[in-house]
Amino acid sequence: MFTKDSLIGVVGSGAMGSGIAQVAATAGHKIIVYDTNAAALERARTSLSASLHKLIEKEKLTREKADTILRLISFTGSIQDFKPCKLIIEAIIENIDVKQSVFKELENNVEDTCVLASNTSSLSITSIASACRIPGRVLGIHFFNPATLMLLVEIIPGIATDPVIANHCRALINTFGKVTVMAKDTPGFIVNRVARPFYSEALRIYDEQIADPATIDWAMREFGGFKMGPFELMDLIGHDVNYIVTETVWKQFYYDPRFKPSLSQKRLLEAGFLGKKTGRGFYDYSDGVSLPEPNKEETLGKYILNRILCMLINEACDTCYLGIASAEDIDLAMTKGVNYPKGLLKWADEIGLAHVQLTLKELYDEYEEDRYRASVKLKQMVKKGKLFY
Ligand SMILES: NC(=O)c1ccc[n+]([C@@H]2O[C@H](COP(=O)([O-])OP(=O)(O)OC[C@H]3O[C@@H](n4cnc5c(N)ncnc54)[C@H](O)[C@@H]3O)[C@@H](O)[C@H]2O)c1
Repeated sequence: MFTKDSLIGVVGSGAMGSGIAQVAATAGHKIIVYDTNAAALERARTSLSASLHKLIEKEKLTREKADTILRLISFTGSIQDFKPCKLIIEAIIENIDVKQSVFKELENNVEDTCVLASNTSSLSITSIASACRIPGRVLGIHFFNPATLMLLVEIIPGIATDPVIANHCRALINTFGKVTVMAKDTPGFIVNRVARPFYSEALRIYDEQIADPATIDWAMREFGGFKMGPFELMDLIGHDVNYIVTETVWKQFYYDPRFKPSLSQKRLLEAGFLGKKTGRGFYDYSDGVSLPEPNKEETLGKYILNRILCMLINEACDTCYLGIASAEDIDLAMTKGVNYPKGLLKWADEIGLAHVQLTLKELYDEYEEDRYRASVKLKQMVKKGKLFY
């Protein structure tokens, strides 16, 4: 379906669009990037050159290869230039009405055989496709930020998507050197669903004054091997992005308490304390201010890791149980998409599924909240004495 000569269109020249264009051009494809904002197109052109220049400096790319990549990418303010494209990846503002109208416009400007993909993180692919004349050619191709560095790409067929098209897209993205996983069209797909407890259970522990952010971050790094703790990561992502993803996933799951956001994080957002980019989030990044010291009490640290890890594993179990993705793809997604030190289901096998179930039962008994209900998959596997691998 796709060859090296297939022209690929990218809608939106922001952070994601320009990254995706660079990745696809590096794989040898001709790319055309379209944006309605001329200044954004110019910024993308400059940042692309800068990004390639950095790679040359680091000796990861030769000047000749960089020149070839640059020659492969063109920029346009006219959607009509998409006519010869075989695939178009949309990466514009995360708004369903705007995306639906752009997809309608795309259909009026391309051949009926052109595949249309969205890079949305949180919107329903099925809903985007419903605005189209040919919904069978619409799917989600979800890159992570920065697209040039993050290996994972989630492939998300909507309910009307032709499975053959989804498989061809997966094969194409594999040729970009990415690791692909298939996910059902459900809120947060794999990564943005399974990762929720990393933030929300940490926030819960903080809200209950069991430990402060520095201690929780230390515990997750020290005992879990995570590269960053939840609070430093939320501060890095920005609370404007991280809180909104949590709230969106929670609302789309009909307010399931498992995904409930935290008021503490909402207050940071309301205050404009968005994290590192504004100089203040959970931590104060002002010059001369040193970061708070954690309470390095081992029992507390291990309690924190165990509670957050068991909640993560529970979500991974449910994601598997509901057929959102296979166990292998869930583990791949979390290790390649958010750099977890280990796949959660492999981790579950190692610490024991019965232990995970018991931790959740203790939390459930203590709080009497639906948030701590164990996944049916977890219970069934414990009953049968099974392992994931
Ligand atoms: N930034 C992330 O961390 C991240 C990660 C994964 C997925 N995503 C998703 O990728 C998409 C883009 O995110 P981003 O961070 O690159 O956004 P961005 O704001 O950096 O860029 C969006 C670009 O789209 C352009 N645009 C807006 N409306 C347009 C239209 N109607 N036609 C053509 N161009 C239009 C804007 O001018 C802008 O240049 C969103 O759906 C987002 O949810 C973002």
